[in-house]
Amino acid sequence: KKVLVVNGPNLNLLGVREKGVYGSETLLDIAKAVNITSEELGLETDFIQSNHEGEIIDRLHAARGVYQAVIINAGAYTHYSIAIRDAIKSIEIPTIEIHLSNIHSREEFRHTSVIAPVCAGQICGFGKMSYILALHAAANLNGYIYS
Ligand code: DQA
Repeated sequence: KKVLVVNGPNLNLLGVREKGVYGSETLLDIAKAVNITSEELGLETDFIQSNHEGEIIDRLHAARGVYQAVIINAGAYTHYSIAIRDAIKSIEIPTIEIHLSNIHSREEFRHTSVIAPVCAGQICGFGKMSYILALHAAANLNGYIYS
């Protein structure tokens, strides 16, 4: 099973940016942990990051016919990108929304996720473990409508 992990804007600065919220681990540290868990679960995982909305959409479109599941931390785009929401809806690949922080316990503008209604589910608040939990979900999506 092939899984695409998409990281949105500012996540390239993990480990430097707002350490109190996001911790001191870098995106590379997360990518390494994702790799290890993927191997354990028998998944083939690609891990990408982009600060550009259009590029994220292009990568989602290109996922069609290649990946059986998508895991996305859309960063701030989560809260307002109808274009990314439409892309997720259009590709018909089960998509798991993730966040390092618990977006529901932070500022009010982070409580809304415009992508949540088109995702299989949401995992947030567990830091790096959000990615690991999402891989377990991706490995077990067999009953899901689009899988
Ligand atoms: C985030 C939460 C978003 O609100 C924020 O804009 C991010 C990171 C998270 O992983 O906790 O960039 O998606």
